[in-house]
Amino acid sequence: MARLPMVAGNWKMHKTGGQGAILTQNLEYPVRDIKGAVEVVVAPPFTALQSVSSSIEFDKSPVKLAAQTMHWEDEGAYTGEVSPVMLTNLRVDYVILGHSERREYCAETDVTVNRKVRAALSHKLRPLVCCGESLATREGGGATAFVERQIREGLAGLDARDAEQLVIAYEPIWAIGTGRTATPAQAQEMCKHIRATLAALFGPAVAGDIRILYGGSVKPENAALFFGQPDVDGALVGGASLAVETFMPIVTAAIPAA
Ligand code: PGA
Repeated sequence: MARLPMVAGNWKMHKTGGQGAILTQNLEYPVRDIKGAVEVVVAPPFTALQSVSSSIEFDKSPVKLAAQTMHWEDEGAYTGEVSPVMLTNLRVDYVILGHSERREYCAETDVTVNRKVRAALSHKLRPLVCCGESLATREGGGATAFVERQIREGLAGLDARDAEQLVIAYEPIWAIGTGRTATPAQAQEMCKHIRATLAALFGPAVAGDIRILYGGSVKPENAALFFGQPDVDGALVGGASLAVETFMPIVTAAIPAA
């Protein structure tokens, strides 16, 4: 079966609850117009999840909801953290795990990513697992091995059935928020390698169904170049996801040619 393209907006530390609900409402009709040709996801900060979730429910909006991270425990003495139970209670569909900013600023590692992936699956939250190398790793020629290790360690212990729930995002760190993108050929090469790694872990049929997104300075002007690559199934978008005017052209660029 052909993979349904996904475009997910990672709002990072932007937007209050009210602002997030308005942006989500403004996405509703344009997203309805594309009739399910692309799965559209927004990932607000924790403080906006409730209002965005209510607005999606009230409008019966086709927009899906993601959280930007979570803890792996259901509850406990973890000041400042949010649990999978709290997210499912807000009707969250996906959870972004292992974003490079969480790895860099919040000490997230492949081990903690793996705990979170398994916790998410056990709560029926779909993990959107991020991977990607630094510029130094790429220039040193180690990018492919580095990303493969992130995938193998982040997904350790999963079976094929678990893997069907995954979405992977390849985001080279040097391309995030820098205006500097990977070339479409570089994105394709890494996404193809990620798919081969998934095939080795879970079998080719499952790997063939998993969506692999590209992320890192995706804009209306360059999105189509990435979506034209056979192993790139959509995008994880940061800056350009904060306004309908820049997010929707990326969504429409992901609509498969008839
Ligand atoms: P960017 O962020 O589109 O602003 O580069 C992408 C991301 O970090 O997911």
